[in-house]
Amino acid sequence: MNSVKDRVALVTGANRGIGKSIVEEFLRVGARKVYAGARDVKSLDPLVSAHGDRVVPLLMDLNRPETIAAAAENADDVEIVVNNAGMLNVERPLSANAISALQAEMDVNVYGLMRVAQAFAPILKSNGGGALVQLNSVASMKSFAGFATYSASKAASYSITQSLRDVLKEQGTRMLSVHPGPIATDMAQSAGLDEIAEPAVLVPQAIVAALASGAFHVFPDSMAKQIAEAYQSFATNIVEADLMEA
Ligand SMILES: NC(=O)c1ccc[n+]([C@@H]2O[C@H](COP(=O)([O-])OP(=O)(O)OC[C@H]3O[C@@H](n4cnc5c(N)ncnc54)[C@H](OP(=O)(O)O)[C@@H]3O)[C@@H](O)[C@H]2O)c1
Repeated sequence: MNSVKDRVALVTGANRGIGKSIVEEFLRVGARKVYAGARDVKSLDPLVSAHGDRVVPLLMDLNRPETIAAAAENADDVEIVVNNAGMLNVERPLSANAISALQAEMDVNVYGLMRVAQAFAPILKSNGGGALVQLNSVASMKSFAGFATYSASKAASYSITQSLRDVLKEQGTRMLSVHPGPIATDMAQSAGLDEIAEPAVLVPQAIVAALASGAFHVFPDSMAKQIAEAYQSFATNIVEADLMEA
């Protein structure tokens, strides 16, 4: 799977922010159809109005496994799944709410990924392999004290992403791990990052480029590229290496 052109994709959290931008850019570069997942399908109306039947709304709440199972039954022709939906709580590690904040973030950001992967891996396999793309973060590599629990959840989702890469390779499915820095969405605003945030379209552009190049790690924006420069050797020689080889 090296291109979005003429392919059928699915994006979770597609109604706003980075997810909406992924839907729009995938359509722009020639995706045949994009399933748009959201907790409230009415919130997808603007995308459907703009793109007609190339956008297919799907109820998908990452906290409700039955909605993911139903979506997988409907979207049985999907070839590229982008698990974008996520949440961020602004909590420092010693705050009274830190544990409940992390529990909620683990549910969406980590167990949500696992639910999506478990539901869609067999479909991707039966459609020739395809790709599973996970929205991780620069916070997967570096913890930020102002949103410490979010950082912990994104480190955990990155860890699961790495194991999914190995497991999905066996069935010919590519795994991509996307690590944006601050991107101009509601989430960045809630974290107080709007002044340094960069445009959302950088994320789908980097995903499209990584599908073409074969990259596993995807670093879309300035802060992400700064981290990538320092991280590259570890990424290549440890994360992407097979250390269990005899
Ligand atoms: N913005 C950044 O600076 C940044 C940087 C690095 C990584 N990321 C990651 O990129 C992804 C998208 O972020 P964003 O900035 O676009 O966030 P956002 O503007 O806050 O949008 C979050 C999206 O996720 C959906 N969502 C939240 N909980 C959900 C659940 N339980 N089930 C299904 N959908 C759910 C939201 O749906 P509702 O509209 O129903 O709430 C919304 O569509 C996230 O995984 C985030 O962690 C963002």
